Amino acid sequence: MTKVQVRELVFEKFISREEIDVAVQKVADAINRDFEGKNPLLLAILNGAFIFASDLMRKITIPCEISFVKFASYSGTQSTSNIKELIGVDEDLKGRYVIIVEDIVDTGLTMEKLLQDIDLKKPAGVKVACFCFKPEAFQKDYSIDYIGLTIPNDFIVGYGLDYDGYGRNLPDIYKIVK
Ligand code: IMP
Repeated sequence: MTKVQVRELVFEKFISREEIDVAVQKVADAINRDFEGKNPLLLAILNGAFIFASDLMRKITIPCEISFVKFASYSGTQSTSNIKELIGVDEDLKGRYVIIVEDIVDTGLTMEKLLQDIDLKKPAGVKVACFCFKPEAFQKDYSIDYIGLTIPNDFIVGYGLDYDGYGRNLPDIYKIVK
């Protein structure tokens, strides 16, 4: 099993770049099917979703746009309920179809905050696309419309996901060795 060290923690290979590609294509296929003629706006959550959003957008074949928002909720390997908005939504979303693009939904708090903010802007519809979903950690009841991979409640790095700012550049996904 390939292992990597990110700062003081050791991680082992968990999801290969080939499996990642298949999962991203699955999400893109569903979006291409569901948003034909709707010119959706992808709203990607920085920092973690930048690689997923970039791969996803290049697999979307219908006309679409992209914008970015930025929140911070994680401290080390723990999600916190203290969510700070660092870059907000500045687009006019009235009447638009919005697809929120997130790297991972863990407790679901970050996404809930964004869903509340977006709702105030009266979009025509909002869907959530996340690359990884941790159902055991999820504390909310809204639906996640497009899920790349469902994973256990382990801390992971790679493919845009970080530990303390590092590990985002790993092309495969690694999980923490406990
Ligand atoms: P939530 O608000 O608890 O759902 O956390 C969402 C955010 O926490 C994600 O956008 C990630 O930035 C971060 N996060 C959650 N789980 C992990 C993980 O396993 N590795 C790295 N970051 C994570």
